[in-house]
Amino acid sequence: MDHFTYKNGLLSAEDVSLADLADRVGTPFYCYSRATLERHFRVFDEALAGLDHTICFAVKANGNVAVIKTLARLGAGADVVSGGELMRALAAGVPASKIVFSGVGKTRAEMAHALDAGIYQLNVESEPELVALSEVAAAKGVTADVAIRINPDVDAKTHAKITTGRAENKFGIDWDRARDIYARARDLPGIDARGIAVHIGSQLTDLEPYRRAYARLRDVALDLRAQGHDIQRLDLGGGLGIPYNEEQAPPPADYGAMVREIVGSLGCHVTVEPGRLIAGNAGVLVTRVLYAKEGSTRRFIIVDAAMNDLIRPALYDAYHAIVPVEEPPAGAPHLPVDVVGPVCETGDTFAVQRHLPAVKPGDLLAIRSAGAYGAVMASTYNGRPLVPEVLVSGGDHAVVRRRVEAEEIMAYDVLPPWLEG
Ligand code: LLP
Repeated sequence: MDHFTYKNGLLSAEDVSLADLADRVGTPFYCYSRATLERHFRVFDEALAGLDHTICFAVKANGNVAVIKTLARLGAGADVVSGGELMRALAAGVPASKIVFSGVGKTRAEMAHALDAGIYQLNVESEPELVALSEVAAAKGVTADVAIRINPDVDAKTHAKITTGRAENKFGIDWDRARDIYARARDLPGIDARGIAVHIGSQLTDLEPYRRAYARLRDVALDLRAQGHDIQRLDLGGGLGIPYNEEQAPPPADYGAMVREIVGSLGCHVTVEPGRLIAGNAGVLVTRVLYAKEGSTRRFIIVDAAMNDLIRPALYDAYHAIVPVEEPPAGAPHLPVDVVGPVCETGDTFAVQRHLPAVKPGDLLAIRSAGAYGAVMASTYNGRPLVPEVLVSGGDHAVVRRRVEAEEIMAYDVLPPWLEG
């Protein structure tokens, strides 16, 4: 459930009309709803009741400091994958003791940053990375709390580009090598490998792959304990899907029950790393219609947002619901249109043959489910600015990232001496 509904004929975020916001900040812009973020966090937290757990919000889904802070105030930790995200999580007030650092390619500088901050855990994904972390930690005279990410070789049955738990994916160490790598970890200075991590993919709409992955995790944990390793922590990753269209996403309560059933008896502290589940349906991208163009076979609605602002449709053929900000009259006819952006690529298409009520130039459209992997994946392709992000709370709103203008971006370019003058 989210808090984007029609009020007085206009789509609103909580009590703020998106048309009003468009007048204030210009289009396109992202708008997030605090009440929706909070609701999603609480529902998931309740689903995990009875487990000793921390919800580490996957900052990669939405790295806005105001969004992270909204969640941190409810007790969220953070899952980060770079020094930049670590900086954001700390700036948002996430306690270091609730931060996990994931990712296959941490640099030594990032490891040092994480150790200096004193984060809860680094999730290590290969033996060379383990050795590097040992060297960095030993040089500092500290011990790194580590979980080793195993690759359970389970098909998450999601889009190929966001599947991470198959043997052929780059993530984690093969689950059947766990004994070797934990034995190695025990001998390395500066490493305390007391956790096991897993993450099999994103936008999962079926709990079955989780069941198989977590059962494997449990078996590995029991085996490692039998080898004398003191396994106290499990990181179950993120990946729970959300409804973008009509797909049924598993209820968080069912996920929680499954987790309790499979790993509850291990008595471990459990971390989970949801991103999309918390932020996805807590945000929309608002765009204005520039032109309606009649092609010989299609009607194109050309909007002022583009693939550089929201790349998911272009990159994953992702479906995002699109609705007019002005509420259409009941029973208004819906006609098939292609909703496209101004970027010079055919892939710059938000929807193909989508049935929408009549829209005309100047109208506003909201592209829904854009709160996760939206603004964070934006680029300045085609010389376009980075669009603003607005956070609504009840009847209040705040611009939580202003538009970054094309001039500012150009100012990073430097002419070499031979081109000056
Ligand atoms: N933990 C790890 C280790 C991850 O790699 C990810 C996502 C998450 C947690 C959070 O997953 P979530 O709960 O948000 O599904 N850009 C793609 C999604 C990439 C996900 C990458 N990893 C998209 O727009 O669909």
